[in-house]
Amino acid sequence: MYADDIVYGSQRFISLPQKVYFQDIPLYDIIDIGAFPITALREIKILQLLKNENVVELLEICRTKASPYNRWKSTFYLVFEFCEHDLAGLLSNVNVKFTLGEIKKVMMQLLNGLFFIHSNKILHRDMKAANILITKSGVLKLADFGLARAFSCKGMPNRYTNRVVTLWYRPPELLLGERNYGPAIDQWGAGCIMAEMWTRSPIMQGNTEQHQLQLISQLCGSITPDVWPGVENLELYGKLELPKGQKRKVKERLKHYIKDQYALDLLDRLLTLDPTKRIDTDSALNHDFFWNDPMPCDLTPMLSRHGTSMFEYLAPPRRRVPHPHQQPPKQPPNPDQHFERIF
Ligand SMILES: Nc1ncnc2c1ncn2[C@@H]1O[C@H](COP(=O)(O)OP(=O)(O)O)[C@@H](O)[C@H]1O
Ligand SMILES: [Mg+2]
Repeated sequence: MYADDIVYGSQRFISLPQKVYFQDIPLYDIIDIGAFPITALREIKILQLLKNENVVELLEICRTKASPYNRWKSTFYLVFEFCEHDLAGLLSNVNVKFTLGEIKKVMMQLLNGLFFIHSNKILHRDMKAANILITKSGVLKLADFGLARAFSCKGMPNRYTNRVVTLWYRPPELLLGERNYGPAIDQWGAGCIMAEMWTRSPIMQGNTEQHQLQLISQLCGSITPDVWPGVENLELYGKLELPKGQKRKVKERLKHYIKDQYALDLLDRLLTLDPTKRIDTDSALNHDFFWNDPMPCDLTPMLSRHGTSMFEYLAPPRRRVPHPHQQPPKQPPNPDQHFERIF
């Protein structure tokens, strides 16, 4: 398929028998297939492997026709099934309210998608609310496999890059320089996103890697070999300043937002410092959180009350969250405004 057969003007969202989302392969002026970026090839290969209800579907790869109008340079597009919302967009809109059953449905689908990709030996490596898409019929899709890669658990220790995952969702092992990591890195992100379902904005908004580790220690307790045997062998353990004497306060700090004990328990297990003890997708899906009333319920009725698409890039920029111990503002939020939560 040639994209300019179907794209008019600069429109990227177009009317087809099926609504689709076009993502151009950025930064590269691809003249011929020989110059196709290896990162895009990796993403395509992974997306072609991952066919699951909770993973965004790659429908086509197409390109514009080379012509004098584009100086004989084609642009390649990945064509995806269209999803009406992303989770960051939904969470930044104060009018969108999730019940406990709906939060369970979101988390169940998210973990189900992760279970599927991890079973296929793929790490996502960029878990965050903006990369979680939700269709108008309430089906959640993991998206943005731009940083994803295959992993192996056998043989020699792996030496993957640790320069992955958006800082606020980055797990402590990556921040400490671990290069032989595995699916637990995505589980940490799932924990951050789970908390965000209640707090409505990212729970640990560090400015630097050092600051991020500080925020993690303040919430999850000091990072020591007692709670995480072997951490002392990680490359940056001795080089970065890690807060000492911090108590673990995951449940205590989040109980103001989350009243459900099962939710707090699952969150505590997802935000476990030691990656070898962090709960995996299979055990998380079997957790009591999903098997007690209210049971996970359909998101369609709630979403159908909101006619327009909600995406992070359409929402006003979220302000920096003030110091965690600061009191929330007293005035009720204006219901017409996107709002900022204070954690
Ligand atoms: N299939 C899709 N349907 C609708 N919107 C999408 C789709 N895929 C991505 N988007 C939107 O575009 C944003 C950026 O896409 P993404 O795949 O995350 O690329 P990147 O973050 O690398 O630019 C997403 O956060 C989402 O809001
Ligand atoms: Mg993205």
